[in-house]
Amino acid sequence: MRRSIVLAVIYSLGWTYLTEAQFPRVCCTVEAIVSKECCPALGSDPDNVCGILSGRGNCSDVHVDSKPWGGPYRLRNVDDRERWPTKFFNRTCRCFGNFAGYNCGECRFGWTGPSCEQRKAPVVRKDIHSLSPAELQEFLDVLDRAKTTVHPEYVIATQHWLGLLGPNGTEPQFNNISIYDFFVWQHYYSVRDTLLGPGRPFKAIDFSHKGPAFITWHRYHLLSLERELQKLTGNENFAVPYWNFATGRTECDVCTDSLLGGGDPRDPSRISPHSRFARWGVVCDSLDEYNRLVTLCNGTSEGSLRRGVMESTNVTLPTMNDVRSCLNLRDFDSPPYFTNSSFKTDNRPAMFLLGSTLGGIFLGLLLLLLLSVLYVQQRRKREFEPLLNAEFTTTKYTEEA
Ligand SMILES: *[C@@H]1O[C@H](CO)[C@@H](O)[C@H](O)[C@H]1NC(C)=O
Ligand SMILES: *[C@@H]1O[C@H](CO)[C@@H](O)[C@H](O)[C@H]1NC(C)=O
Ligand SMILES: *[C@@H]1O[C@H](CO)[C@@H](O)[C@H](O)[C@H]1NC(C)=O
Ligand SMILES: *[C@@H]1O[C@H](CO)[C@@H](O)[C@H](O)[C@H]1NC(C)=O
Ligand SMILES: *[C@@H]1O[C@H](CO)[C@@H](O)[C@H](O)[C@H]1NC(C)=O
Ligand SMILES: *[C@@H]1O[C@H](CO)[C@@H](O)[C@H](O)[C@H]1NC(C)=O
Ligand SMILES: *[C@@H]1O[C@H](CO)[C@@H](O)[C@H](O)[C@H]1NC(C)=O
Repeated sequence: MRRSIVLAVIYSLGWTYLTEAQFPRVCCTVEAIVSKECCPALGSDPDNVCGILSGRGNCSDVHVDSKPWGGPYRLRNVDDRERWPTKFFNRTCRCFGNFAGYNCGECRFGWTGPSCEQRKAPVVRKDIHSLSPAELQEFLDVLDRAKTTVHPEYVIATQHWLGLLGPNGTEPQFNNISIYDFFVWQHYYSVRDTLLGPGRPFKAIDFSHKGPAFITWHRYHLLSLERELQKLTGNENFAVPYWNFATGRTECDVCTDSLLGGGDPRDPSRISPHSRFARWGVVCDSLDEYNRLVTLCNGTSEGSLRRGVMESTNVTLPTMNDVRSCLNLRDFDSPPYFTNSSFKTDNRPAMFLLGSTLGGIFLGLLLLLLLSVLYVQQRRKREFEPLLNAEFTTTKYTEEA
């Protein structure tokens, strides 16, 4: 879990400087990557770098925490994600006041208005079962649009850092990706293995689960997704509904064709052909393949959506009492803040909420979708590989940032 602290740090810094962390399209040029500066102009005036002309922010050196990290992650300067985002950028926009975003063109969450000085009224997230037919339609439609619309502002890296400009150093290795899949990719990027060499993954790492960062990381991820969906609908008050999964039952009550898709009677791990989600493709699920090929997920579809089948593992969903006792927990973790933490609980819902791939009522419904895709890969990662002696020397992934 210490590794998660590392990433909590990494991501919280990411929020300060590059809100969505990686990678604004405008900064994915050879020039920006070589100079390590991501300070775009806001609007059409090239002098309005980081919105400086309207006092929104300025271009500043990135400072990251240099405290040593503990836990099983003993590698140094091996993983692109260490001391985020300094492998990629060491100067980014620093936004003043309530301004936010990679170019300071947005407001921090909770603020609105032209100068981001008005409190934004909280959106109301409803139980998906209590949405009106029109609200449900808006939600399902915007998900579909997010799944098929190219993200206007962010792209994904398809190579590790040292391969990022291609074999000749002239071709940035980035791909377009849909808005929805961008979130799947970000999630993948945070959990993926550290690669020590072709086919040599270091698996004892997961920067967004099984550690103190779990809840805050996912909360921020969900807020960012909700904001993108608000932009797509043009409805600033659009709210992602939640799934109250605390039914204590074995079946999934949102897995119906009118909601998130029933099971296909011919293969319950597939989505029913009568659901719009049957057309959805999976991305970023072939972790071993990326490690073997020394590459990153490039966002291409890897087949249709799959879903873990609960019945076959005989688990039941938590009850409301489980959730209440979980909310009563005072301590979320204890040293060494890792999977072998002495924090012991026979409290199953706590495990559910802190470590589960199903998400929780806090995390909202969307995680279910994201995570049903990621469920399989999480299971694969569960085995803890013995720590490797990381004193290897290789050039492709390591080099001073
Ligand atoms: C940022 O990176 C550039 C390019 O590698 C380098 O020249 C510069 O010294 C770095 N600046 C800081 C503050 O680390
Ligand atoms: C950016 O703004 C901060 C805060 O006002 C200031 O301390 C810093 O000197 C500015 N940096 C540049 C490069 O203008
Ligand atoms: C937890 O695991 C780490 C890495 O294997 C080890 O160094 C540490 O001693 C373990 N701590 C406990 C309390 O078991
Ligand atoms: C890289 O440069 C070499 C030699 O100039 C050229 O033959 C090759 O086509 C280039 N490769 C790419 C991907 O641009
Ligand atoms: C990526 O999308 C942008 C904006 O939609 C478009 O201009 C660009 O040509 C696309 N690039 C590729 C490689 O498809
Ligand atoms: C994208 O990734 C897939 C799966 O790893 C791979 O088969 C495909 O060749 C990649 N496409 C490109 C253009 O690299
Ligand atoms: C499933 O769980 C129930 C209740 O705990 C138990 O009685 C039953 O034997 C379990 N079935 C299997 C197949 O494990």
